[in-house]
Amino acid sequence: MYNLKIIVASTRPGRKGPIVADWIYEVLKANPSFSTELLDLAVINLPFFDETNHPRLQKYEHQHTKDWSAIIDKADAFIIVTPEYNFGYPATIKNALDFLYNEWCYKPVAFVSYGGLAAGTRCIQMLKQVVTAQKMMPVTDAVNIPFFTNHINDDHVFVPGETITKSAEVMVAELLRWTEALKPMRNKQG
Ligand SMILES: Cc1cc2nc3c(=O)[nH]c(=O)nc-3n(C[C@H](O)[C@H](O)[C@H](O)COP(=O)(O)O)c2cc1C
Repeated sequence: MYNLKIIVASTRPGRKGPIVADWIYEVLKANPSFSTELLDLAVINLPFFDETNHPRLQKYEHQHTKDWSAIIDKADAFIIVTPEYNFGYPATIKNALDFLYNEWCYKPVAFVSYGGLAAGTRCIQMLKQVVTAQKMMPVTDAVNIPFFTNHINDDHVFVPGETITKSAEVMVAELLRWTEALKPMRNKQG
């Protein structure tokens, strides 16, 4: 079983991110290949990056960084659930990524994005550039949800429909492929 972390990128009061994240979390909880944990950046509550040393050195001064490092270090794979803010990624996810380096390396990351017509795809294109600097493998098959509020019912539950359900299946299958492929590579690295 691989250790998968689903990261909820948005943190603002009234955000919709957890509604989308709860849906994909349920999908993954039913998948026997992964042991899945939901990480909410609003709960993790990192400050703006405040370490003196480059994360590559892992000379962390703050307890919040040590805690974040321990969580991410355990992971074999990630799914980032994110909206698009002003055609880009929310600052919160970039900040959370910047805190660490080695803990992300040689691990796959898949994306669930949501938004209006563009379905958060511009955010994902930007995020891909960032995660490759950290030697992560961005999974090409993603779940991109346009006009996502149409999928949220009166009980604040995300109802995916056939197309989104299928895209999640494809994304998860591809994420598993990369997870299996990259684990031996990390072991070799020591
Ligand atoms: C600061 C800000 C910028 C936004 N920019 C975009 C955008 O570029 N593209 C888009 O599709 N939606 C945009 N939206 C609308 C979001 O898709 C919508 O508010 C969504 O609920 C945001 O995710 P959250 O609720 O998890 O914060 C923006 C919303 C905010 C608050």
